[in-house]
Amino acid sequence: MHQVRKVTEDIVWVGANEHRLALFENIHPLTTGVSYNSYLLLDEKTVLFDTVDWAVCRQYLENVDYVLNGRELDYLVINHLEPDHAASMDEIILRYPKVKIISTEKAFMMMSQFGFDVVDRFIEVKEGDTYNFGKHTVAFVEAPMVHWPEAMVTLDVTDGVLFSADAFGSFIALDGVLFADEVDFDRDYLDEARRYLTNIVGKYGPQVQHLIGKAAPLLPQVKFIAPLHGPVWRKNFDYIIGKYDKWSKYEPEVDGVLVIYASMYGNTESVAVSLASKLREKGIKDVKVRDVSNTHVSWLVSETFKYSHVVLASVTYNLGMYPLIHNYLQDLKALNVQNRTFAVIENGTWAPQAGDKIREFLDNELKQMTVLSDEVTINSSMSETTGAVELDRLADSIVESFKQ
Ligand code: FEO
Repeated sequence: MHQVRKVTEDIVWVGANEHRLALFENIHPLTTGVSYNSYLLLDEKTVLFDTVDWAVCRQYLENVDYVLNGRELDYLVINHLEPDHAASMDEIILRYPKVKIISTEKAFMMMSQFGFDVVDRFIEVKEGDTYNFGKHTVAFVEAPMVHWPEAMVTLDVTDGVLFSADAFGSFIALDGVLFADEVDFDRDYLDEARRYLTNIVGKYGPQVQHLIGKAAPLLPQVKFIAPLHGPVWRKNFDYIIGKYDKWSKYEPEVDGVLVIYASMYGNTESVAVSLASKLREKGIKDVKVRDVSNTHVSWLVSETFKYSHVVLASVTYNLGMYPLIHNYLQDLKALNVQNRTFAVIENGTWAPQAGDKIREFLDNELKQMTVLSDEVTINSSMSETTGAVELDRLADSIVESFKQ
């Protein structure tokens, strides 16, 4: 059965929702699914904007067929060639053999690498080119590294629809929702939007900034932002662009503390939670505690982008930091995360080393991180007489750092 929604009178969402995939890019857990968005323009010519992942191709073809209602497909615009959006291209060509493919030179090169035979049907476009399909004219804007080098975004000038590729996308299956203003986005979708952007495109903050800058003069014409994942925006552009602006500048969204602990037998956990209590007692309103062993690193990365402060509490393991803390820090490095304030707690029964190793990593491997000089060392466990004073001092030091 078809599942489609109108964006405008002439443009229809024909994408599909994914609920079965456990891991996006085979690495990031999908607990609430994901949508692969594709849009079909019905004009004198018919134009499809991107396709979907192969896994949802059957539903997608049904949607496209329903909206075309017997018409030929004339054009397929590929804004982003990553297979979660382009894998169904072969199937589209098979069913609509007259279709022409419009995309960038780099996308064309990648198409051959992926085995798509489009030589006789390819129309190359570049920054600033326009194309007319009848009533509708579109303009192409290159968006390299958002999130692959071939990426572009396309503005339908006639209806004011910005097909924004991966930009402004979000995890979460749509399941009937089309517009962000149909849901409580801030409450129900924001965390997954952040987790999507920070983990998938987080490394390319400067390129996202570049795209935001290029899109700024176009914004007066834009009435809809239509990404390749998640809901379409037709209101509150300042809200979602503001979030993307902060994330891509590596600026925290909130003044608050993320406490990430690695605990083997519960003693480090106890100290981490005790610190959280003290911070709240001292007036810090937003404190989140996460166990590194049962929280996937994609959430830890996302929350690191959100919070201004991070406390790392780690047991010593093989005379170093706990492997999962190391893995988290490696991800921060890969994603270029910067401008956060860190505090460190270490635990060790005979040779506590985790603190030094964490500090070394923060100082040498990451950019523009502030590491508070107060550090707490736990020898196996903490009590009122062993370490509680130092923990209080650390809490004070964190509170004080908010005032600077
Ligand atoms: Fe959703 Fe970069 O692909």
